[in-house]
Amino acid sequence: PIQPVIMAGGSGTRLWPLSRAGYPKQFLVLGGEGSANRSLFQLAVSRLLGLGAADIGVAAPTVVCNEEHRFLVLDQMREARAEPSAVLLEPLGRNTAPAVTLAALHALQDGQDPVLVVTPADQTVTNEAAFTAALQRAVRQAADGSIVILGITPDRPETGYGYIRTQAGASGEVLDVAQFVEKPDLATAQAYVAEGSYFWNGGMFVLRASSWMAALDRFRPDIAAASRKAWDTRSADAKFLRPGKAEFAAVPAESVDYAVMEKCPGQLPLHMVPLDAGWNDLGAWEAVWQVAAKDAQGNASTGDVMLSNSQNTLVHATSRLVSVVGLHDVVVVETADAVLVADRAQSQDVKHIVAELSARQ
Ligand code: GDD
Ligand code: MG
Repeated sequence: PIQPVIMAGGSGTRLWPLSRAGYPKQFLVLGGEGSANRSLFQLAVSRLLGLGAADIGVAAPTVVCNEEHRFLVLDQMREARAEPSAVLLEPLGRNTAPAVTLAALHALQDGQDPVLVVTPADQTVTNEAAFTAALQRAVRQAADGSIVILGITPDRPETGYGYIRTQAGASGEVLDVAQFVEKPDLATAQAYVAEGSYFWNGGMFVLRASSWMAALDRFRPDIAAASRKAWDTRSADAKFLRPGKAEFAAVPAESVDYAVMEKCPGQLPLHMVPLDAGWNDLGAWEAVWQVAAKDAQGNASTGDVMLSNSQNTLVHATSRLVSVVGLHDVVVVETADAVLVADRAQSQDVKHIVAELSARQ
């Protein structure tokens, strides 16, 4: 059996002021080719539906998200004509390694050991057929107990991604991973892109539930033990499953990438399937501009917007008319209570504003 898992508990701070604690970016409609008014989470749900129907052994997805967003998740899934098999509710975010662990422990109930297809909820893909084919390849490989990730050919020295180097001279549909480096600094990322044999990590992980637990027990027994405790103290309410609150809060916060992927090469079999499907992680406003439909001057706008003599600019208006004259390469995001004006190239740094704001509260 195959068990899709959607990680939807991130906070999306770099897309402030549209993305807020109560309504983070994965639940927003951010455009992108063919998105047809669906949120990033709904796009992730419908991409997984393409994996196959229940009769070929693909279960309904398990969603792992914050307690606060449980009804948002149910409503958005209903709208996307999908039903979750379970919604695992975190009382607070402990990053992705504990989230995947809850999903693995859930999947291992009743003596099952499905292949988990773990995906984020903040991406767009233009070629869904290529995406599905790559994931199916990954699923076939992962049946043997190894861990499989998807690799994208980089086109810029992005520092927000993981980088994958495959075994020298390797080619084909499934490659062996020789090195995994999460979020390198700019100089390192530049060197990797220039070197030419590195891939970006697509943020999807395909592996048996037991393989995840074995890898975590080996590399981060502290996270494994604390997560088991939180799982053993869970409560259930229809499809909602809640780990013990204090127990989950005590789990060390770490991402899958730092906790396990970086440590695998040379220790545990880690494979990569190349993905060429028009993949994008909508991490910051720059990426939203990249995937948006643009006019002849490279401007992308949403809402009531007027532009004059402006180029390569993103304007997102939600409650007022916004006009921009004579600017280029800027981002303007207007909401009812906050406005962002930023240099497009520095849109990653919006997270500093959000950090300052939450310190103020
Ligand atoms: N349930 C849950 N709980 N989900 C979470 C949590 C959490 O505490 N934190 C993040 N997520 C979700 C996010 O909502 C997102 O869908 C996904 O997990 C990935 O988290 P990000 O915070 O967006 O990770 P990233 O983009 O910085 O890095 C990851 O993705 C890149 C590609 O998009 C890494 O895997 C990188 O290596 C990769 O290149
Ligand atoms: Mg991301």
